[in-house]
Amino acid sequence: MLIKQFRYSTDNLGYLVFSGNQGIAIDAGNPADIIDFAREHGITVKYVTNTHFHHDHTCGNAVLLETTDAEFIDCRKVKAGQTIVLDDGSLEIIVTPGHTEDSVCFRASDFLVTGDTLFNGTVGNCFSGDLKGFFRSLKRLLAFPPETKIFAGHDYVMESMKVAAAIEEDNPDIAVYLQKYTPRLVVSTLADELRVNPYVRFNAPSMMNRLQKRTMPFKTEEQRFISIMEIF
Ligand SMILES: [Fe+2]
Repeated sequence: MLIKQFRYSTDNLGYLVFSGNQGIAIDAGNPADIIDFAREHGITVKYVTNTHFHHDHTCGNAVLLETTDAEFIDCRKVKAGQTIVLDDGSLEIIVTPGHTEDSVCFRASDFLVTGDTLFNGTVGNCFSGDLKGFFRSLKRLLAFPPETKIFAGHDYVMESMKVAAAIEEDNPDIAVYLQKYTPRLVVSTLADELRVNPYVRFNAPSMMNRLQKRTMPFKTEEQRFISIMEIF
């Protein structure tokens, strides 16, 4: 399974995931670029879908569905574990409520499309209000192999590393992470996130110490995640 990233608006990231000559457009906010790329590479856009139903992610759906014969997969109606077959590959839908109740991620063998659930360097706002559910969703993602690549819904790398450096000023991995960053292809791995992203570092001793100093609940990892989300 292959993936092509398309940047649009200020910092949005959309994708064409494809295998053989069949593809799925995910958060295709720039339908013209996706259609051009698919045409150039002989790929048929078989499906159009989204990581969640926020307008900046769904705004390209109508044009893509009008211009191609693609079928729409409504992320608000999918089931956990459902798979999408593209030629000789398949993509698994991971249901990840938290940022919104309808948030989902898509998993191929070596990458995840994470929408606004997990960004490179930070996590999404918890608009659902269910921090415990958000925690369970993030745990679902973090359970995949550490080398799994993360393709997110926005490029927030620079801003999020400023926040990360303000929280953990002594974390040397932040500079390493920034050296690897390029706006031309925004990607990291789960291992990278566990090294620098404060919101998934609920098991890192440095974050645990910071929570303890602030007398925030920190006994369980769920408590630590919620404490980190509440203070930072
Ligand atoms: Fe969103």
